[in-house]
Amino acid sequence: MNKPIRKAVVPVAGFGTRLLPVTKSVPKELLPIVDVPAIQVIVEECIASGIEEVIFITARGKAGIVDHFDYSYELETYLAEKNKPRALETVRRVSSMIRTIAVRQKEPLGFGHAILCAKEVVGDEPFIIVLPDDIISSKVPVIRQMVDVYEKYGQGVVSVMRVDREDVSNYGIVDGESWAEGLYRVRTLVEKPSPDIAPSNLAIIGRYILPPIIFEYLEEAAEKHGVPIQLTDALARLAHDRALIGFEFEGERHDTGDRLGLITANIDYALKREDIGPELKEFLRKKHEAGEF
Ligand code: UTP
Repeated sequence: MNKPIRKAVVPVAGFGTRLLPVTKSVPKELLPIVDVPAIQVIVEECIASGIEEVIFITARGKAGIVDHFDYSYELETYLAEKNKPRALETVRRVSSMIRTIAVRQKEPLGFGHAILCAKEVVGDEPFIIVLPDDIISSKVPVIRQMVDVYEKYGQGVVSVMRVDREDVSNYGIVDGESWAEGLYRVRTLVEKPSPDIAPSNLAIIGRYILPPIIFEYLEEAAEKHGVPIQLTDALARLAHDRALIGFEFEGERHDTGDRLGLITANIDYALKREDIGPELKEFLRKKHEAGEF
């Protein structure tokens, strides 16, 4: 029987340089998808997938992310006194959503190092890494889709997506073979290859179910090569020494760490909202009719 996936590691210690200047003072994870911070969309995906604990790898200037999931006595008292039950309910729901733990990455030593910071808190159990930039709208939450694959095969699972050939140099790319619909046996992984040497156009997206041995691999890589440690190298080792499944998920992914992705995520989510969706559609329709796009 496989150990269940209970813990999600969410690294939020990066500078978010692609979204400057806003990220100079506001963590990108708190930028809104309509009126919900991006990080809450991620945490809700975790909850809907059965995750019990979220471990944030955080840094200076990022306290607001952890605060968002805390009980806010002043705000709740204020809303209760002003008789605003709906707003109060919204705020209470967030603060009681899930157990969170914050681990500080004291220096910005990269993504691989950020994951290694979670070693003690994760302990000896499989877990999922969730990159907060990758917001994916889907019928079944992508983490849940992946947990189903993990429960069936009992091996590490990385989410993958087909990208245009000319874009492969922006991603970790899978070298592997398909053995069932949407499932790939990963032979190895290549970090940001140029299109002419890329083994495929299957890109790794920010969801990874991994066994705890990944921490040893990261530590050994750090000893051998120093920092920054690449998670991709540790994943390649996992694929080689044990097994790693590439899973083509169902869903529409937005890279909200990027200007365009942040806007497409907002449009996608806003169009689905009952309160503003119809008016947004009307606004876009008028723009289209006026020949603006
Ligand atoms: P990115 O490479 O996307 O960097 O990090 P970034 O700072 O978030 O964004 P850009 O590219 O400068 O705009 C991948 C993930 O690893 C985390 C980030 O928060 C992001 O979730 N990270 C990165 C850390 O936690 N610590 C680091 O030292 C670096």
